[in-house]
Amino acid sequence: MVKAILVHKHGGPNVLSFENIILPELGQGDVLIKNHAIGLNFLDTYFRSGLYPVPKMPFTVGSESAGEVVAVGVGVTRFKVGERVATVSNFGAYAEQRIVSETALVKLPESISYMQAAGILLKGLTAEYLLHRTYRVKQGDIILVHAAAGGTGQILVQWAKSLGAIVIGTVGSNEKADIALSLGIDHVINYSEGNFASKVREITQNKMCDVVYDGVGNATFAGSLDSLKPFGLLASFGSASGAVDPFSLSMLAAKGSLYVTRPTLATHISKPETLAGMAKRLFDAVATGIVSSDVGLTVKLEDAAEAHKALEARKTSGATILIP
Ligand SMILES: NC(=O)c1ccc[n+]([C@@H]2O[C@H](COP(=O)([O-])OP(=O)(O)OC[C@H]3O[C@@H](n4cnc5c(N)ncnc54)[C@H](OP(=O)(O)O)[C@@H]3O)[C@@H](O)[C@H]2O)c1
Repeated sequence: MVKAILVHKHGGPNVLSFENIILPELGQGDVLIKNHAIGLNFLDTYFRSGLYPVPKMPFTVGSESAGEVVAVGVGVTRFKVGERVATVSNFGAYAEQRIVSETALVKLPESISYMQAAGILLKGLTAEYLLHRTYRVKQGDIILVHAAAGGTGQILVQWAKSLGAIVIGTVGSNEKADIALSLGIDHVINYSEGNFASKVREITQNKMCDVVYDGVGNATFAGSLDSLKPFGLLASFGSASGAVDPFSLSMLAAKGSLYVTRPTLATHISKPETLAGMAKRLFDAVATGIVSSDVGLTVKLEDAAEAHKALEARKTSGATILIP
């Protein structure tokens, strides 16, 4: 029996229930992990609330954790008992122990602690594909990162700066503006104070952005399109303020032959060899100081509801870690 956070019905943070569960027997290719640190992600709130569908009820919420291998199933070839690992998968992370397919695991280098890994793996892999695959950021590009002081935002800002981009970020408060500035961002806009696209126009002297990274979704979608130069790309990768409403394709024509994509990490890490390569690039970026993971808040696993409340109330910055 292990302690875990279960969801029996969709709803607000209070549907997160701390209970005993019995994990099933290990199947072919499965690995049992004792979690030492669990990453909180906005994604977890979508499955909890029902914005994203879940395969069954009840389910153990949580997508990211780091820990040690305590048992391996038949056919596991790449991992052994005692190894330090981390994983990203949609469910099962908010628990003292979890079962994961070996295809979803990465080995942790000695230089990365469990806390660091749980704070950076999912968000950092997302930044990896957004900056290197969705759009290849290069020297001199002008980019806009929404929620720049958030978990994913902080990593995007630091990594994009190291690639030579001119980085503009949006934040919801002056405290968060200070955090973004401490990361070396070039310009910061408090988007709660008005039209951020017109600020982008002012800052860039009408040049506008090559790419906008938008994890905020509905509230920023229109302004994100208005922040792009002709042929610019909007990477709409999340829905912190709600899902983007349906829109007419002709709007992209009218605003300058724009591109829009809605990428997911799941598509990018569906092959274990791609996951390993992306994780290596991320861990190298951490080791060389390009990216650091600011753990803003640490919460006991049993208090996961408090962590969800803080995240959804925009009270967190950087990563939040749940400790089992
Ligand atoms: N597609 C993918 O592969 C992928 C992978 C990872 C994450 N994501 C997405 O990336 C986004 C960021 O995730 P994260 O876990 O790093 O969270 P986070 O950025 O730490 O937290 C979300 C932030 O969004 C901003 N926000 C703006 N409007 C909001 C609203 N109405 N309600 C709540 N927050 C609002 C807040 O920052 P301000 O107060 O500064 O506005 C808040 O702190 C999420 O949308 C997530 O789903 C997508």
